[in-house]
Amino acid sequence: MTVTGHTPRVFSGIQPSGNLHLGNYLGALKRFADTQDSGTQTLYCMVDMHAITVWQDPAKLRHATRELCAGFIASGLDPAKSILFNQSQVAEHAQLAWIFNCVARMGWMKRMTQFKDKAGKNAENASLGLFGYPALMAADILIYHATHVPVGEDQKQHIELTRDIAAKFNHDYGVDFFPITEPVIEGAATRVMSLRDGSKKMSKSDPSDMSRINMTDDADAIAKKIRKAKTDPEPLPSDLDGLEGRPEARNLVNIYAGLAGISAEAVMADMGGKTFSEFKPALADLAVARLAPISEEMSRLMQDVSEIDRILANGAADARAIAAPILRKTYEIVGMVGA
Ligand code: TYM
Repeated sequence: MTVTGHTPRVFSGIQPSGNLHLGNYLGALKRFADTQDSGTQTLYCMVDMHAITVWQDPAKLRHATRELCAGFIASGLDPAKSILFNQSQVAEHAQLAWIFNCVARMGWMKRMTQFKDKAGKNAENASLGLFGYPALMAADILIYHATHVPVGEDQKQHIELTRDIAAKFNHDYGVDFFPITEPVIEGAATRVMSLRDGSKKMSKSDPSDMSRINMTDDADAIAKKIRKAKTDPEPLPSDLDGLEGRPEARNLVNIYAGLAGISAEAVMADMGGKTFSEFKPALADLAVARLAPISEEMSRLMQDVSEIDRILANGAADARAIAAPILRKTYEIVGMVGA
């Protein structure tokens, strides 16, 4: 896959707002780790400025940012191969976001489903930051001229908006400067659903802790949540068509596929005909085998916070080295004196 005229570069971000869960792991972290050996430059960011679009307790935000960094590393990201950093340490994100605030249209923002979901019924009371969230996200990506963005399904609309912002900027200023970035939404588990309701996304904000597997859950908690996951009385079918109208069964199959690194078809070929009382223990064993070492490594890394801060500071310096010339050029295009 190439984006015309631009060197391939991968960027993605995760909010440090606590409760890192299986959806984040399968939809994002695990896939990030898979990309870092592809020969393409990779940047991964803890987007703390996005997190504060809804109020965060400062001590918890600091903890969650470091814990997220530990989660990245424990999931296989190597700071020597990928640039790992937090957003607020690279001021160019906010600077480019302002330019994009002036490019993006109110109507575009109003259509964003994540804004509608998060703002709820009282949109007038939402922060201006929450409304402008996608312009900052476009800045995160485009300040590095990133060409590919691995994300879960729920971020697709935001990446489409990023493309619209890049295209409008290029058009308004008569340049071919920002790439039209490609979302990368691949694999069986790009939309992991709640364990309690197969029609709802697994989410850090779900009030029920039983709805999600947290990356900090221990083996007993993981096994218990899978055992109690909602299912239907039928055994597993032998092909994907048989999962039609069975969202909870489909979700568990997708989770199995994501954890095992195989296709959902391959899971069906292996597990078709099994009852949930047979399939769930196999899934629990697989989940524990994959996740327990990650959560153990996260706790180990969290014992040395100064090392995490050092990794983030190094990452920020590397990120800034790419971002600063792109911001300077953007200012020049826009007509700012001194750029
Ligand atoms: P966030 O922090 O909500 O989620 C981080 C990543 O996890 C994915 N994800 C899921 N994937 C599968 N199933 C789920 N249930 C699930 N829940 C979350 C998300 O799709 C995402 O890839 N706006 C972004 C953060 C962001 C960003 C960026 C991403 C800010 N700037 C630039 C990419 C590029 C967000 O809130 O993700």
